[in-house]
Amino acid sequence: MSRVALLLSLFALLPACDRSKINEAKWKEAGAEAVLPFKKNLKEALVKGLEEGPTQAISACRVEAPKLAEAASTGGIKVGRTSQKLRNPNNASKLWMQSFLRVYETDPERREPGVVLIDDNTVGYVEPIFVQPLCVTCHGAELAPDLSAKLTELYPEDQATGYAAGDFRGIFWAELPRK
Ligand code: HEC
Repeated sequence: MSRVALLLSLFALLPACDRSKINEAKWKEAGAEAVLPFKKNLKEALVKGLEEGPTQAISACRVEAPKLAEAASTGGIKVGRTSQKLRNPNNASKLWMQSFLRVYETDPERREPGVVLIDDNTVGYVEPIFVQPLCVTCHGAELAPDLSAKLTELYPEDQATGYAAGDFRGIFWAELPRK
């Protein structure tokens, strides 16, 4: 192969190296900042809801979570959460998130925030969510009967039970405009 042909074929490979073209540290910081208000307000709504009782708190997750995600999605940024085992199918992961979910689920050593170039204009950010003691009320192995009945009624395809504190539960994600 001539030198020119070699160079040309190397250039042809460049798109495959897109990951290296983004400044990971910078985008991780931007992503963490983007999901922070969503995380914070959601936790607050959950804790407040739980004070009134777990069945009331379901509405904090059901009604408030999509609203809070919407409110935190400003200036071209989108945020949300998803999981490999969904309670609400509306929270299904997008294609770009799925390799992160797989890695997080199978490799406890690699449960760190991550970034990826989704397309020329968008960077994706993800961070793992872990089960805390307060989460097992609604995502644990043994749920109170009234709570369990309510969840089955609202989410007939619920897969998000059986968790213990410390388990990997899903991700917060952000789509960040690149400019
Ligand atoms: C009061 C019950 C309750 C508690 C406590 C609770 N959740 Fe949930 N969780 C829900 C409900 C209901 C949904 C579905 C929300 C919706 O309809 O979008 C949900 C959805 C989720 C999702 C989105 C993916 C999916 O499966 O649809 C994640 C991630 C999640 N919960 C994590 C947690 C974590 C982490 C905690 C603890 C900090 C927690 N939850 C505490 C009830 C609860």
